[in-house]
Amino acid sequence: MSVTETLRATIAAEGPIRFETFMDLALYHEGGFFSTGPLRSSATGDFLTSPEVSPWFGRTIGKYLASKRIETLVEVGAGSGSLLTPVLEDLPDIDVWAVEASPMARSSLENVIPHDRVADSFGRLPKRFSGAIVANELIDNLPVALAIKTDDGWNEHYVGVEGDEFVMVEVPARPDVVAWADVYGGEVTVDGIVEVQLAATSWLHRAIDRLESGVVVLIDYGGTAEELEPRRSQGTLRTYRGHHLGPDPLLEPGETDITVDVNFTALLAVAAERGVVAELHRQDDFLSEWGLRDIVRELKLKELEMARGGETMSQLVVRSERIDAETLLHPRGLGDFRVLIVEI
Ligand SMILES: C[S@@+](CC[C@H](N)C(=O)[O-])C[C@H]1O[C@@H](n2cnc3c(N)ncnc32)[C@H](O)[C@@H]1O
Repeated sequence: MSVTETLRATIAAEGPIRFETFMDLALYHEGGFFSTGPLRSSATGDFLTSPEVSPWFGRTIGKYLASKRIETLVEVGAGSGSLLTPVLEDLPDIDVWAVEASPMARSSLENVIPHDRVADSFGRLPKRFSGAIVANELIDNLPVALAIKTDDGWNEHYVGVEGDEFVMVEVPARPDVVAWADVYGGEVTVDGIVEVQLAATSWLHRAIDRLESGVVVLIDYGGTAEELEPRRSQGTLRTYRGHHLGPDPLLEPGETDITVDVNFTALLAVAAERGVVAELHRQDDFLSEWGLRDIVRELKLKELEMARGGETMSQLVVRSERIDAETLLHPRGLGDFRVLIVEI
């Protein structure tokens, strides 16, 4: 069954569905964006992530993990394995697991780590362990509810069907959606949109539950509630396909990635609620602190030496490696991502 057929059948049986349910079906169920087609996070797929841009991302994260003496590493939403590969080159003895919802990504991961270490959900991991749980660009893909500010509170967008089309249907917001939007939405004018990230906060609770001690490292686009405030008139919900912004999320479910900016204030609040320490960094600052700017400088020097020695081909290879590493630090690009560290 295609996603469109599943959505139509569900809406016919139950009436309009929560946007969270729409997003979950469109991304992860039979025929969903991450359940079909090619591996999405790759040069030939739909988007390029930091570990796909340069192995220096994984190497730098690996350096941080080594400083924490991490012995068990779980990467959630591990994609092709492009973060794990360089980490394992530097930390070959680490006990590693990958959790992936996408079958294509799981088969790619089985080329990087043993088959029995690749799981489709948290359920197959040891119940409790000490170590690190790392996720790059996972949280932005977790289903959200859409709260709309009204004169006297919040409504919520459900998804219904009109003729051949999926349409947003505005209904009074559920109490947990209202509570979240009130606390983490910031100042929102009437008709403004807040993506309510209840799945993200419960995901972080589950990750913290798993760890006896260690760190959760979440890297993603987004910002604090305050930083996201200027985006509230339109909201941050968007789609990607083939490395470009895609159509309205309701138009071609299953054919596009659906994503939002992560509200890190809500995740920091989970850490505070659990009584654990959390720090939020920009990606450019975090990677620089763990030596990436020094690596870029070393690569530049190597390029110069090669140019002086007339080694043109090798110089071009190093130049491309240096440019990719610099891309991770671009202040208006990947460098503007956030790194949340939660220490347990
Ligand atoms: C944007 S991709 C990022 C992939 C990889 N981390 C990278 O940076 O290249 C998000 C990945 O998270 C996976 N994913 C989404 N929700 C998940 C969940 N609840 N558990 C495990 N994997 C999930 C998707 O299948 C997809 O491969």
